[in-house]
Amino acid sequence: MGHAKKVVLAYSGGVDTSVCIPYLKHEWGVEEVITLAADLGQGDELEAVREKALKSGASESLVADVKLSFVKDYAFGAIQANALYENRYPLGTSLARPLIAKILVETAEKYGADAIAHGCTGKGNDQVRFDIAVAALNPNIKILAPAREWGMSREQTIAYGEKFGIPSPVKKSSPYSIDRNLLGRSIEAGVLEDPATEPPEEIYLMTKEISHTPDEPEYIEIGFTRGIPTTLNGEPKSPVDLIEQLNLVAGNHGIGRIDMIENRVVGIKSREIYEAPAMFVLIQAHRDLESLTLTSDVTHYKRGIEETYSQIVYNGLWYSPLKAALDAFIQKTQERVSGSVRVKLFKGNAFIVGRSSENSLYTPDLATYGAEDKFNHKAAEGFIYIWGLPTRIWSQQSRK
Ligand code: ARG
Repeated sequence: MGHAKKVVLAYSGGVDTSVCIPYLKHEWGVEEVITLAADLGQGDELEAVREKALKSGASESLVADVKLSFVKDYAFGAIQANALYENRYPLGTSLARPLIAKILVETAEKYGADAIAHGCTGKGNDQVRFDIAVAALNPNIKILAPAREWGMSREQTIAYGEKFGIPSPVKKSSPYSIDRNLLGRSIEAGVLEDPATEPPEEIYLMTKEISHTPDEPEYIEIGFTRGIPTTLNGEPKSPVDLIEQLNLVAGNHGIGRIDMIENRVVGIKSREIYEAPAMFVLIQAHRDLESLTLTSDVTHYKRGIEETYSQIVYNGLWYSPLKAALDAFIQKTQERVSGSVRVKLFKGNAFIVGRSSENSLYTPDLATYGAEDKFNHKAAEGFIYIWGLPTRIWSQQSRK
């Protein structure tokens, strides 16, 4: 088929991406497969993953620790954008794909590869994200997606792999399809495919069931600098530490479970379960600090930007002119979003119970109902007269 000579393959260590190695070589005539596994905080034993790629026939097996970049360059922007796809999903998987695509392209350029490959099937969102991101970063690199074309069932895939020394999964493989990184977990398939069925407790790893969470609330304080979380309980934290620690603290109170029916890019609806304790808390806290520090019109206008931002990130357009333009808007709005937010964690809830900022636009002597009130009550009458004038005219006209 003459697809490509040298290929950089996005590698996870699972059966599908492992089978991609012999498949690319033997079915598609690829001469050399270089694998690249990204460490995004998924908690896999990456040295074993690295070795498995070599055993499966890779000529070179690379592991890249990109956790810091993942949080700094991808998650933090999403927090500043209060990004929630369809108002709920904090985009943990969606945010990782453009970063993986970036290191795939860099590796392909460095090794003189003419294509990159991934193990996505033709039904998901991730293929869309990979393909478009690679095209945006280097339109001359070919994209190979064997699993989108090979048409093998799970059993056939395993059998194909066995022919080339790829061991079939030792433990009875999980009925679920799971994606995990620092920002959270996504769980699909198995019994979850019936949208009427409650998810079994066994699928959760980062969040406790409410009946097992502490019976006392826990208070935490999150400090933000220009819209970026920088401290936890007054202590400066590195980006990765902050996310990891907040995942543990909030997950312990059962916070950040999401069960939703989601509209995929490829047109179908899917049932998704997420756990994203840190992102869930951070977005709520960040949004609250914005209400204190942004003017009313910026706050309201930004809501529309956030909706669009979430959609384009979900839809695979991370590297796009629209995304860059929205980023410029969002960055400008964040200049004064510094301060701290107090959050009460209790029984699956993250209640925002206090916020403060040097840049607070909250004006006590205007807001108070007490004697110190400086608000000019008399000015309200003229304001309301003019503000309501169009409505008054409309009413008079329609009574004629
Ligand atoms: N639906 C989510 C997204 O498209 C997560 C998909 C992750 N994959 C999985 N096998 N659980 O971003």
